[in-house]
Order: sequence, then structure tokens, then C-alpha cells
Amino acid sequence: MTQRFEGKAVLVTAAGDGIGMATADVFARQGARVMLSDINETTGQAVTERLRKEGCEVAFLHADATEESDVERLVAHTVETFGALDIAANVVGDAHRDAAGPEFHQQSLESWEHTQAVSLRSVFLSMKHEIAYMIEHGGGVITNVTSLAGMLYVDAAGAAYAASKAGVIRLTKFAAVSYADRAIRVNCIAPGVTPTNGYNKAGEEMGQMVIDHLLPNQPIKRPIATSEQADAIAWLSCKEAAMVTGHVLPIDGGWTALC
Ligand SMILES: NC(=O)c1ccc[n+]([C@@H]2O[C@H](COP(=O)([O-])OP(=O)(O)OC[C@H]3O[C@@H](n4cnc5c(N)ncnc54)[C@H](O)[C@@H]3O)[C@@H](O)[C@H]2O)c1
Repeated sequence: MTQRFEGKAVLVTAAGDGIGMATADVFARQGARVMLSDINETTGQAVTERLRKEGCEVAFLHADATEESDVERLVAHTVETFGALDIAANVVGDAHRDAAGPEFHQQSLESWEHTQAVSLRSVFLSMKHEIAYMIEHGGGVITNVTSLAGMLYVDAAGAAYAASKAGVIRLTKFAAVSYADRAIRVNCIAPGVTPTNGYNKAGEEMGQMVIDHLLPNQPIKRPIATSEQADAIAWLSCKEAAMVTGHVLPIDGGWTALC
């Protein structure tokens, strides 16, 4: 039986952990050739090795998604390795830096700059270089990852993160309209409470506290699996979604339905 992404060349950033790793898993197990990328070489290589042992066609490149030269090299390397770039999932972002952290007026400029770089600049740079290739090669599909915090008030997210993720939504919609006539679709998912190692940056106890604080807001009161986020990215990337572009798809247990 033909697999859903057979023959497709896919690039996934943040593939060493969390939602990015689950996304690489879905594409690779459904027949795509996948370029995994992460700033963490150890975890990125480990995920790649695991998928290779399962028989998947995958490769890894270490890249910092906030550095333009790295992103440019990553797109070029994907094309060199697989001969194409059909689908990209830009997952890099830092949901957890300000979790339960300082209030707006206490936020440092350094923290603001870090968040804009990781959660917004990374998406701009990735899209810039992916689109530059796709325009010349018959189009493609890009999915970014925003957050509920980019759509509504989430106290634990912090203002800097909320602003960066609202920016991801605008970048997504702007690009979707700009490149619709060149066969490039651009969408984003907006995850709800999806436990990953990222929550534990300030320790497991703090991670659990943040999850327990957020979860009552979700009408469906269970944590969301990373594979559920990845399945949404895969659907937005497949041919059944051919008329879907500029869309923000919340995978949030109904949280956004409250407003
Ligand atoms: N987990 C959630 O509940 C949640 C909710 C809303 C939005 N999101 C968004 O989903 C995405 C993934 O979140 P997650 O929880 O899976 O994250 P995570 O912290 O579990 O994993 C992030 C991965 O990104 C990599 N990374 C970090 N900075 C990088 C950089 N500059 N360049 C390349 N790789 C880098 C890390 O090494 C790590 O492997 C992010 O954009 C996040 O903002 C997550």
C-alpha cells in the first residue's frame, strides 16, 4: 500500500524532542524522507538513529534556527540529500522560558530578545529560505507552530512569548496570501497543554505545577499527546488539505472555543 507521504522530502526543525520529534516520527513512518534538525546534536542524532533502525529514510543536521546562515545551510542540505524540499514543519519555539515567571513589567529585555529570536525570528528565517526554494521548484507546504498564547490570554505564558506567537500567526497568514498563486500553502497549529520535556526546564515539580495550573482551562481535561499535535501537522501537509492555507488550527481540547 502506498504510504501517505511516499516520495516527499520533508524538513522538521526542533526534531530532537517534544512536538518536533513526534512530527518527524509521523512523516518518517508514513513514507517521507525526513531531514531532522535541532540545536541539540545529541538528542537530534538519537531520534534520527532510532528512526533509521525502524527502516525510515532520515538524516540529521545540527542547526540553530535563529541563525540565518544555519537555516540557509539546512535548506540547501535537505535539497542536496533528498533532491527536493516538499514539506516543512517549523516547530522551533520556546514555550517554557517564562512559564509562571515574571510579570510583564518585571521582564528583562534580554529575556524578551531571547524569546523573539527563538519563537519568532526562527520562523521568519525558516519560511524565508524554504519559500525561496519552493517558489523555484513548483511549490510546497509549510506548517508553523504558534500557541494558544498567541490567540488569547494565558497567564503562565508571559507577554514576550504571547507576542512572539501572535507574530507567528501574522507571518503565517501573510505568507499564505502572498504565495497562494505560487502553489505554496502555509498554515499553523496552535497547541494546548502538551507535556514535553520543555515543561521541566525549571525542574519536574515546576513543570507539573504549570500543567496542573493550565489544564483546568481546557474543556477536554486531559493533557494532549505530542503525537496529536504531529498528526495535525501531517494533515495540514497532505493532499487532502489542498485548499487549506492561512489557517490556524488549535489542537487545544477546546480552549479557544471558550472565547
Ligand atoms: N508543549 C506545549 O504545551 C506547547 C504549547 C503551545 C505551543 N508550543 C510550541 O510547540 C513547539 C514545540 O514545543 P515543545 O514543548 O515540543 O518544545 P521542547 O522544549 O520539548 O523541545 C524543543 C526542541 O527545540 C530545540 N531547539 C530549541 N531552540 C532551538 C534553536 N534555536 N534551533 C533549533 N532547535 C532548537 C530543542 O533542542 C528541543 O529539542 C514550540 O514552538 C512551542 O512554543 C508548545
